[in-house]
Amino acid sequence: MRKSILDLQAMHARGEKIAMLTCYDSSFAQVLEKSGVDALLVGDSLGMVVQGHDSPLPVTLNDVVYHTQCVVRGAKQAFILADMPFGTSQVSPQETFYHAAELMRAGAQMVKIEGGKEMVPTVEFLISRGIPVCAHIGLTPQSVHQVGGFKVQGRDAASAERIIEAAKALENAGASLLLIEAVPEPLAERLCAAVKIPTIGIGASARCSGQVLVIYDMLGLGAYIPPRFSRAFIRETGSIEAAVALYVSEVKAGRFPAAEHCYH
Ligand code: KIV
Repeated sequence: MRKSILDLQAMHARGEKIAMLTCYDSSFAQVLEKSGVDALLVGDSLGMVVQGHDSPLPVTLNDVVYHTQCVVRGAKQAFILADMPFGTSQVSPQETFYHAAELMRAGAQMVKIEGGKEMVPTVEFLISRGIPVCAHIGLTPQSVHQVGGFKVQGRDAASAERIIEAAKALENAGASLLLIEAVPEPLAERLCAAVKIPTIGIGASARCSGQVLVIYDMLGLGAYIPPRFSRAFIRETGSIEAAVALYVSEVKAGRFPAAEHCYH
């Protein structure tokens, strides 16, 4: 049976870490869930790792719908989240609902939305109409041109406070999960303490309730230098199945991310 949000909440309540990876197609979906991954994120990172762009900005709603359908066909048990690509959630809550509904129709169980406090009315609107939301804070890659690159966020006191206030506001608005990307480890730990909902880290802290990585990064695929927070699990193992199983066991044991994968 497919995992639901209740299963993720139960894992969080009993202190079991959630192992999440991005996924874009049916074959990977089968392998990832067989190797023990709890949740699959159809991320707009597909714009970079699948389509070859240098940011996620060119990804369309139809792209994410298509890849979500592929992933849903391959995975029968994993929880499935889909990203709301650039331009689909930075509009009115009503318009966002129509876009999110397309992703739910494709088989997503939750949508992921980037942004801070400004997204509160949107999160409230979606939640009140039956669409669960994962709020994505810290480095939000859709704002890459505004922040001047894929850079760690929350390094100074004022921006750290802003991120913490946003996390609390998004939780109050009804977000079910909080994804924290690329912030200093002490800030990630403060964020985990500031909210009750499960937190999913990427370049954050092992203290988070779970972790996510871009699958191609952890398999060492691609012609670019993988981010500091990734680990090339495939080099330690030799097969995709074993790399993913090692990732899952390292996340569950709280050994990944280690200090060298975090920002200080
Ligand atoms: O699109 C994506 O893959 C993401 C991850 C970086 C978490 O949002």
